[in-house]
Amino acid sequence: MIVTHTSKEISDIVSSFIGQEKSIGFVPTMGALHLGHLSLLERALNENDEVVLSIFVNPTQFNNAEDLEKYPRTFERDIDIVKQLSDRIVVFAPSVEDIYGHEPIATVFDYEGLETEMEGANRPGHFDGVGTIVKKLFEIVRPMRAYFGEKDFQQLQIIKKMVEKENFAIAIIGCPIYRELSGLAMSSRNERLTVEGKQKAAFIYNILQKTRDLFQNASIDECVDFVKKSFEDHSDFELEYFVIADENNLKTAVDKKENEKYRGFLVAHLEGVRLIDNVPMYEEVLMESLN
Ligand code: PAF
Repeated sequence: MIVTHTSKEISDIVSSFIGQEKSIGFVPTMGALHLGHLSLLERALNENDEVVLSIFVNPTQFNNAEDLEKYPRTFERDIDIVKQLSDRIVVFAPSVEDIYGHEPIATVFDYEGLETEMEGANRPGHFDGVGTIVKKLFEIVRPMRAYFGEKDFQQLQIIKKMVEKENFAIAIIGCPIYRELSGLAMSSRNERLTVEGKQKAAFIYNILQKTRDLFQNASIDECVDFVKKSFEDHSDFELEYFVIADENNLKTAVDKKENEKYRGFLVAHLEGVRLIDNVPMYEEVLMESLN
């Protein structure tokens, strides 16, 4: 396994892979690796000759300085995990200066309205930061395929849009949410929860599943009210938002329309940690994604 820290180093390695006509799969992360990331890496290893994993806590996508500061950084542990997984993974862990020069600044992107919904409305500038870093990483790593988890479903749709608009020849592969046995969606942020908090956080998926069942025979308003009421009764949590939205344009749905695919999107805070999850409203969530 090779660990690189500069764009120049990784670029030289990637050039040699491309020269040998090897396919490159790319898994961008902010580190604090968990089983969800490993499932992306395993898929990338199965589908490509070589795999690049980036570990970079991207400052421009945090709209809250405290959130950036508290983001878990577990580099040594991450490297040990990757070593055990495969020797076919090249790690790219650059410094902020290497990526941004003196000042980390985000470019403003137009994702045709996808960026103004949900996370975009609640975290101003977040998707400009995501677009900026993902575009830079794509230009450096030059992958054939890139893998993203559906936990950040809006991010996934936005990256697909960016790739289309920038004419990148990269297949964006969305992978199912990887969950704890309790149902809690795996996330690097879960590291900041206490053991008790992790148990409590299972409530989020539990409510989302109940909402999906309710959705089959209830109106969208009734589903939203159900979630709000459930969280009001559970004072450990602060519900930031729950919306049912069209999966393609991410617009909040008011009425159900036939042949549209809807998803329920939720953000809640527990023990000062911001937890995000979503479920499709149109089918059973695959049990495969449970470990
Ligand atoms: O999903 C993430 O971990 C980040 O948003 C990403 C895609 C690595 C960009 O920093």
